[in-house]
Amino acid sequence: MPSSDHRRLRHAVVAWMLIALLGCEVGEALKVPFRVNDVLPVLPRQISWPVLNNLHSAVDLLPYFVGSLTPSNASIKWKGACFYDNTAKIELSPASQGAVLYVKTEAAHSWTCMDLYVFATPYRITWDYYFSSREHTLKFDSWEEPAELEYVKQHGVSVFLMPSGMLGTLLSLIDVLPLFSNTGWGQNANLEFLKKHMGATFEKRSQPWRAYIDPSDVHSGDFLAVSKIRGRWGGFETLEKWVTGSFAGHTAVCLKDELGNLWVGESGHENEKGEEIIVAIPWEEWWELALKDNSNPQIALLPLHPEIRAKFNNTAAWEYARSMSGKPYGYHNMIFSWIDTVADNYPPPLDAHLVISVMSMWTRLQPAYSANMWNEALNKRLGTEGLDLHDIIVETEKRGIPFDELLTIPEQDEWEYSDGKSTTCVAFILSMYKEAGVFGPISSSIQVTEFTIRDAYMLRIFEDNQTRLPRWCNNENDQLPFCQILGEYRMELPGYNTLDPYANMNEYCPSLPPIYDRPSRC
Ligand SMILES: *[C@@H]1O[C@H](CO)[C@@H](O)[C@H](O)[C@H]1NC(C)=O
Ligand SMILES: *[C@@H]1O[C@H](CO)[C@@H](O)[C@H](O)[C@H]1NC(C)=O
Ligand SMILES: *[C@@H]1O[C@H](CO)[C@@H](O)[C@H](O)[C@H]1NC(C)=O
Repeated sequence: MPSSDHRRLRHAVVAWMLIALLGCEVGEALKVPFRVNDVLPVLPRQISWPVLNNLHSAVDLLPYFVGSLTPSNASIKWKGACFYDNTAKIELSPASQGAVLYVKTEAAHSWTCMDLYVFATPYRITWDYYFSSREHTLKFDSWEEPAELEYVKQHGVSVFLMPSGMLGTLLSLIDVLPLFSNTGWGQNANLEFLKKHMGATFEKRSQPWRAYIDPSDVHSGDFLAVSKIRGRWGGFETLEKWVTGSFAGHTAVCLKDELGNLWVGESGHENEKGEEIIVAIPWEEWWELALKDNSNPQIALLPLHPEIRAKFNNTAAWEYARSMSGKPYGYHNMIFSWIDTVADNYPPPLDAHLVISVMSMWTRLQPAYSANMWNEALNKRLGTEGLDLHDIIVETEKRGIPFDELLTIPEQDEWEYSDGKSTTCVAFILSMYKEAGVFGPISSSIQVTEFTIRDAYMLRIFEDNQTRLPRWCNNENDQLPFCQILGEYRMELPGYNTLDPYANMNEYCPSLPPIYDRPSRC
């Protein structure tokens, strides 16, 4: 952001503060020569965002898609909210190392207004705001992956005009965005974020950092908790952990066949085509992939309690695993497992409207993927079919349902999507547990899609006697109540093995950091 914009912003802030102060005293009598919308950007988010939400219908708050900037196309032109004449173009830097975006803003409708833009590819999201009439530049120093350059050459960088009142929200997201930027995907950014926002400790373990597992000590139903801390998946898991309060970001489950061979059932396994699907693969294959995974996974094995293991119906578990094998990962209900309550699931600055904003931008960037991720699930909640995100929002307003309430409607396990039943990594395991009789008589009143990973490892169904853990479990110093089998940091699973299952559990649970307090029987 050039310094002249900074200066203008500062002046505007001072002017607005004065007006706000005066406004308190003279109230309506003062004919404020400013539009409310102009003032919103500089107010603290806690004030601006609710005002914005009240002044507008949800549809107006959606990011407005301005166009895509491709290196081969000429510039694009559009009318902004503040500046009426805008043009922009993109130029690849020499040797296509990165790119520069040129955005020219002219003809502001008032001297206090500003326009706020988000620039996005599926690989990055960045934003800037403009106060002055002139040419602004925005640099992409490098590409996240060669695929990003290809994407930009073909589809361009998408430009979205945001409601300017969102500035406060974006400013408070500064902490989060580096997780998605080039340098921020490093391990340190992830660890620092989790330490700061979740109170994670990441104590280094003593060597060895990998265990030599004897498959004969592992049984059907034993749970694998995985925590990735580096790279693209690391960044994604970090956010998932933060919003759900889970100290693990991925899960898988062990299965023994009739011959005593060990297998791993996993939803979210990447196949050769790069698709995330459900598989059952031999333990050795899974372990080898884990060992060479560049997201630096930390892995714990959580053995089932002997009493639960004794009643575990292995035939039923295998039947379920085979019936799901090859199906896609459950994107449909991923986000709904953590949104249970209207206000208590969004760590600030996230809120329902920011969630829709992100959804609407993503719809533009990756239409197939996002239809998959939420459109079908939202249609199910409305009892409609085939509405796109925009129509869904219009429909909810027509019916007088606030959008945030729509998001909290619990997912039903029997909902079937266009590509079959949808199960995330943990829903897959819990559905298997359900089939295998782990939940006993309350099975039918457990909605597994409402469980986060944290909800799963908190269940009191795991081994509770340390002396019965296999001897290859942990290294000498760990003394963990479960088996950490891989990783340089000591895994923490707060609340592990403490919660007896009950009917309708986890359907109305808040999840607010940093404590993630969980009322009993929510
Ligand atoms: C580039 O320009 C052509 C012709 O004007 C248009 O059809 C195409 O959609 C544009 N591409 C993008 C990514 O905007
Ligand atoms: C285990 O599951 C199979 C398949 O669902 C079923 O036929 C069998 O009766 C079950 N066994 C027990 C002991 O419940
Ligand atoms: C733990 O397991 C050991 C070995 O099976 C047994 O001797 C001990 O009594 C158990 N402790 C508890 C608290 O159940």
